[in-house]
Amino acid sequence: MDPSAPILLFDSGVGGLTILSELRKVLPEAPVIYAADLAGLPYGTKTEAEVAARACGLLGRMAERYQPRLACIACNTASTIALGMVREVLEIPIVGTVPAIKPAAALTRSGTIGLLGTQATIRQGYVDRLEASFAGDKLLLRHAAPGLVGLAEARLRGQDVALADVADAVSGLRSQQDGAQIDTVVLACTHFPLLEPELAQVFGENVRFVHGADGIARQVARLTEGQSFKRSGPDRFIATGDIDMARELAPALATYGLNEISGF
Ligand code: SIN
Repeated sequence: MDPSAPILLFDSGVGGLTILSELRKVLPEAPVIYAADLAGLPYGTKTEAEVAARACGLLGRMAERYQPRLACIACNTASTIALGMVREVLEIPIVGTVPAIKPAAALTRSGTIGLLGTQATIRQGYVDRLEASFAGDKLLLRHAAPGLVGLAEARLRGQDVALADVADAVSGLRSQQDGAQIDTVVLACTHFPLLEPELAQVFGENVRFVHGADGIARQVARLTEGQSFKRSGPDRFIATGDIDMARELAPALATYGLNEISGF
């Protein structure tokens, strides 16, 4: 294995940075390429066929060009729809990001769990199966909060995020409680932890959030155990679409150690 072979993180936008943060803690030396399909953002409002075509097509071409040792689909929407298909197309290990229902079920005391995701994610059979396997004896209330994706992207572009907009985006979850008390919320979109301070204010101090980014980072570390890492240059952010849109993210990306931006 070439020590400079990167780990490829793939997302529709900046959400996967929440996974990159955790990855830096366990594999600080690992060369990383972060790929954002900004031309396809948001995935959550697309059909399954569109998301699958974009994820499989782009990851296939990126793997050919950059020869990563492993790819992580750092996006719940793309993972719940296309993880199996991507694994068929690529010959390297693929780690997916799926809603953290299992840890949420272990954490909840009230027995009522909220799940915030995109429209596409919350209706996936993958989520039904996770619920049946790990939270069959809990009440799982699902809510699509696509507005949070745009707010998280705006935050990373240095724009202010209004608390009222975050509250508005999740009000449909809070109103489903009907006497039950959500004490644990699964953030089933990698963009959402970027708004955790606002979400904590909206839900109050008795609600905990789980998203599983640390577990995904540990899984990447397990799969690359024993391999050596050596950077041959700065870690890169590559993006589809308008490169000027990507460059607006430069100050935020630098805080994640992504110091070179290029188009794909
Ligand atoms: C989106 O592109 O709509 C968000 C992706 C995700 O589910 O993490």
